[in-house]
Amino acid sequence: MEIQLTSAPCAAGQVLPLAAGAVRGMAAHCTQLPVPQLPVGTELCHNGEVLFLVTGRAVLPACPSPHALFCPLLQAVQPCAGGELSLQSQRRGRALAWVTLSDKGSQGLREDSSGPAIEAMVRQIMPLAHAQGFLLPDDAAQLSCLLHELAGQGYDCICTTGGTGLGARDVSPQATARVLEYGLPGFVQAMMQASLSKTPHAALSRALAGVLGKSIIINLPGSHKAVVENLAAVLPALPHALDKLQGDTTDCAVAYKG
Ligand code: MTE
Repeated sequence: MEIQLTSAPCAAGQVLPLAAGAVRGMAAHCTQLPVPQLPVGTELCHNGEVLFLVTGRAVLPACPSPHALFCPLLQAVQPCAGGELSLQSQRRGRALAWVTLSDKGSQGLREDSSGPAIEAMVRQIMPLAHAQGFLLPDDAAQLSCLLHELAGQGYDCICTTGGTGLGARDVSPQATARVLEYGLPGFVQAMMQASLSKTPHAALSRALAGVLGKSIIINLPGSHKAVVENLAAVLPALPHALDKLQGDTTDCAVAYKG
């Protein structure tokens, strides 16, 4: 897709909303309406060089308005002189979100090593254009809401960690069940089978996996060890699962020999 936009000058790393009309502050303005809904992980290139990466979205104008739009957030990959730009959009890698559910972690009282471990493992199995971590308290409403938002932004894979057990505040599977369009019982079974070979306590996890839109959501337990053991069981199937979910119609028997 070719996108014509006018951008203010910006430094590498700076984030600009891609808006249609005049917005206050620094922004990039699309010269064609409507503003294209670019999924996170989309690269915008000029002469083969990546100038911007879509890393999120904002609602503009921020005040409640019937005319509010979801505007992609463009992160400058390198310094951009601004002005009139004609950019080519491409998606060369997947977008991953991990969500760590931890009351203590969300208050800054515990360091999260499980979220970064998810990213490191997924990177080994498929190229990522964008990866983003989120920390939430163990709160079902907040998690359901975030899962919806992340699927809407175009994240291919959303992994949650923590909150799958039997504690009073363990609500990740319930919150996930509320938003899933359908489950992936094979993923759940693979994780449980692999985990039970490591520890009988694996039986305590109620982790779910399934589909929301074009996204695959996977619940993982909270400990670093449990994340590694559970994720390793499903990662080999993840790229193929995403291809199929997102429209690959090639014959598996011919295209996939794994
Ligand atoms: N799965 C694997 N593979 N390895 C583990 O160490 N720990 C279990 C289980 N699943 C574990 C595992 C334990 S002790 C619990 S209580 C549950 O996951 C739930 O963990 P959570 O509440 O952190 O989600």
